[in-house]
Amino acid sequence: MSSQANEPQRGERSGGAHAAEPADGPAANEYMTDSRPITEGAVEPGCRKRDPILVARNVTRTYGGINAVDVAHVEIPRHKITALIGPNGAGKTTLFNLLTGFDTPQSGDWQFEGRDLAGVSAYKVARLGMVRTFQLTKVMGKLTVIENMRLGASSQPGESLWRAFFPPLWRGREREITRQADALLAKFKLDAKRSDYAASLSGGQRKLLEMARALMVNPKLVMLDEPMAGVNPALTQSLLDHIKNLKAEGMTVLFVEHDMHMVRHIADWVIVMAEGKVVAEGPPDVVMKDQAVIDAYLGAHHDVDLGDSEGFEKLEAELEHDPESSVGTEPDGVVGRRIDERKGQA
Ligand SMILES: Nc1ncnc2c1ncn2[C@@H]1O[C@H](COP(=O)(O)OP(=O)(O)OP(=O)(O)O)[C@@H](O)[C@H]1O
Ligand SMILES: [Mg+2]
Repeated sequence: MSSQANEPQRGERSGGAHAAEPADGPAANEYMTDSRPITEGAVEPGCRKRDPILVARNVTRTYGGINAVDVAHVEIPRHKITALIGPNGAGKTTLFNLLTGFDTPQSGDWQFEGRDLAGVSAYKVARLGMVRTFQLTKVMGKLTVIENMRLGASSQPGESLWRAFFPPLWRGREREITRQADALLAKFKLDAKRSDYAASLSGGQRKLLEMARALMVNPKLVMLDEPMAGVNPALTQSLLDHIKNLKAEGMTVLFVEHDMHMVRHIADWVIVMAEGKVVAEGPPDVVMKDQAVIDAYLGAHHDVDLGDSEGFEKLEAELEHDPESSVGTEPDGVVGRRIDERKGQA
């Protein structure tokens, strides 16, 4: 499953994530214009991809009696932006936790670039090029912005005792880390905040810092858990551009998002989870029209427009006051029932 044969023809990656390019629109390069099919064969839940960077099989995680994650098969296409969507409690964050070594599944195996990652620690997973950000941002408030960035680097100077006795061995590396961190801070327009405590940043700036810090390991796969949550509209466009830029620079992106407007706007591919399972996947326009997806989100609320940026807020507000609502919570909730019904009709 070598990526080489399948890679679009291209020049050298120009400085990867670290060239201090502006975050305005991404370059129209081969990664952005590659229109080869993403899948091989039928488009269905768990379908095979032409060039997967990550393949997971039979990954399960239960909490008490709840199947938080029960994914039979899922593949993430390389060099694409994939959105992972699904109602609250669908298992999206838990799947992220499992695949990145922050949690341990009851069963399953998964390969990143052909390498088995089950049992590999979160630290090593990141070093291998698969990084994630958190739904609730995890920056160190009592450290400065630049210190947070340095923490993201792949190997810390002086991290082993014997090296610490030989400053020439790590001084060069330290300079390199600082240079890389500063380039990323400039790119994410956080350079003016370099010496500020991370705690003083706005919610949106923390999201940017977390994303910038994740890029310190030169990742190949960047997994973002609700990168837009809590970000004010002024920063939203900038975050969208950053995500598209990751793709333009040759990275693969997997992001969790509830805002369907954004999903439509930037995702090449959409995977839908409900009650721990992958229940649908496909290109955004097709998936958004899929009855199982509409039902999974809306239940009885068919009047809500998923393509409308306010649709989900409206839906959430409606569900909150709906005693019948069982989306993503009951073992036989709206999602499971409707999908079963649909299968019965097929
Ligand atoms: N640490 C935990 N202990 C017990 N149950 C948990 C734990 N973490 C998750 N769960 C349960 O697992 C299921 C999946 O949760 P998860 O957070 O993965 O959903 P999600 O799709 O990320 O939802 P959201 O969109 O609200 O972030 C839920 O039923 C949740 O209550
Ligand atoms: Mg979540």
